[in-house]
Amino acid sequence: MSTTTLTLPFLDGRPKQLLIGGEWGPAASGTTFPSIDPSTGAVVAELAEGDAADADRAVAAARAAFEGPWRTTKPAERQALIWALADAVKANFAELRHLEAVDMGLPIGRSPEAGADHAVEVLRYFAGWATKVQGDTLPNSMPWQVFTYTLKEPVGVVAAIIPWNSPINNVLWKLAPVLASGCTMVLKPAEEASLVALRIGELVAEVGIPDGVVNVVTGMGETVGAALTAHPDVDKVAFTGSTAVGQQIARAAAGNLKRVTLELGGKSPDIVLADADLRRAVPGAAMGVFANSGQACCAGTRVFVERPIYDEFVEAASAYARKLKVGNSLDPETRIGPVASSEQLERVVGYLDVGRSEGARAVAGGERLVDGKLADGYFVAPTVLVDVEDEMRVATEEIFGPVACVLPFDTLDEVVTRSNASRFGLAGGVWTRDVSKAHRLAQELRTGTVWVNTYNLFDPVVPFGGYKMSGQGRECGPDALDQYLETKAVWIRTD
Ligand code: NAI
Ligand code: MG
Repeated sequence: MSTTTLTLPFLDGRPKQLLIGGEWGPAASGTTFPSIDPSTGAVVAELAEGDAADADRAVAAARAAFEGPWRTTKPAERQALIWALADAVKANFAELRHLEAVDMGLPIGRSPEAGADHAVEVLRYFAGWATKVQGDTLPNSMPWQVFTYTLKEPVGVVAAIIPWNSPINNVLWKLAPVLASGCTMVLKPAEEASLVALRIGELVAEVGIPDGVVNVVTGMGETVGAALTAHPDVDKVAFTGSTAVGQQIARAAAGNLKRVTLELGGKSPDIVLADADLRRAVPGAAMGVFANSGQACCAGTRVFVERPIYDEFVEAASAYARKLKVGNSLDPETRIGPVASSEQLERVVGYLDVGRSEGARAVAGGERLVDGKLADGYFVAPTVLVDVEDEMRVATEEIFGPVACVLPFDTLDEVVTRSNASRFGLAGGVWTRDVSKAHRLAQELRTGTVWVNTYNLFDPVVPFGGYKMSGQGRECGPDALDQYLETKAVWIRTD
């Protein structure tokens, strides 16, 4: 294996600390927990294990920054600061990608350039919004002279609780609108992947964003995460993660009626029509599931294939799955890295057992990979399941692993009904050359995103989020900014 080598002063062997009010320091408890490289099982770093006391301090720091210097920072200054952070992320992107790879296993080799652009563009897009947050003047119908207008104001202190599946984007999709809107934040990264958040915390300070605007508290969800979501001085929770925790957060946030945005799980349908160009549809639908070892909320895990091409599709997708190079995330040749943690490995392998016992059959993969060095890490073979029924657990529950269920269908009406028969509604895909069928399915799928003849595309301008139990609110686009703002109505009688 040829792995890329980078000197990373960030990984100097000392335990990583919490960032609170511009100061780095240990957790109140004094305890730490390890970050583990899922490619090798090795400990990468020790991290401060924050708890409720640290959450309290971080919220107080975020509140002080919100009431203090940040409140009077001019929109144009915030814009410049966000732009500077974009430059810093770009300059340090190779390091961030390396941290992602050793922390949770995203392969370094998947088009690093495209990845850099997205992260930088997210920041630049929201930098632009900082100077364009504005209210309206409203023509009221009062019998006297009354001037009415609205102001858009930042929501306040945001607790951002993020998962581990795409650390750079997980951080920036929340951080960028926080800064653009004038909010402050306490960022709680996932225990499986905290390094990127901590490194971005350093960059935030380097570019001159005032102390306390961005605080980073590492630790467990059940302690520090729960403390933040229940905290009376937090104004909003922005969460990405599992649907089960999303429900807990909605309940915890009810105490002071925090604003809540949730980006949760999915079981997305990807529909391949008989007229599709299979040279594109096969790799497209396959990577729609297997990219990032299936650890994507929008993974197109229910692949519905029109009956006349079903056998041909299954054969081609299985051949494609078997050829994907699985290996260490730092090997630039690797297309599929490990799953992020031993828990995730157990979970995915558990689902493969469930699938077998339900009667599903793996025509590619179907097991953990343990050849040679792979045995040290958490690798699962890209898996194609057939003989799957819609009601099976493998076809209804989010596996979050490289597992595609390929199901035949006969009519458009039928595939719409079956696609929509899910408690989730995050994304959907359609592969066809027929523009009329493409539009019809785009309208009839009950999902927040529909990709036609492509999958997994993201742009800072395009809103992303879920229908039904896949969440509430949107990331990216103007919708995302709006979720960090309150609307104030002002009435001034002038006669
Ligand atoms: P999780 O939902 O438990 O973790 C996400 C974040 O929430 C982490 O930062 C965690 O520390 C925090 N958290 C956990 N419990 C909390 C609580 N009670 N209060 C506040 N914060 C809390 O997800 P987990 O356990 O890492 O993964 C389990 C499954 O969830 C995955 O297999 C996958 O199916 C799904 N998932 C979906 C994601 C998505 O992008 N929609 C991302 C990560 C996981
Ligand atoms: Mg968890």
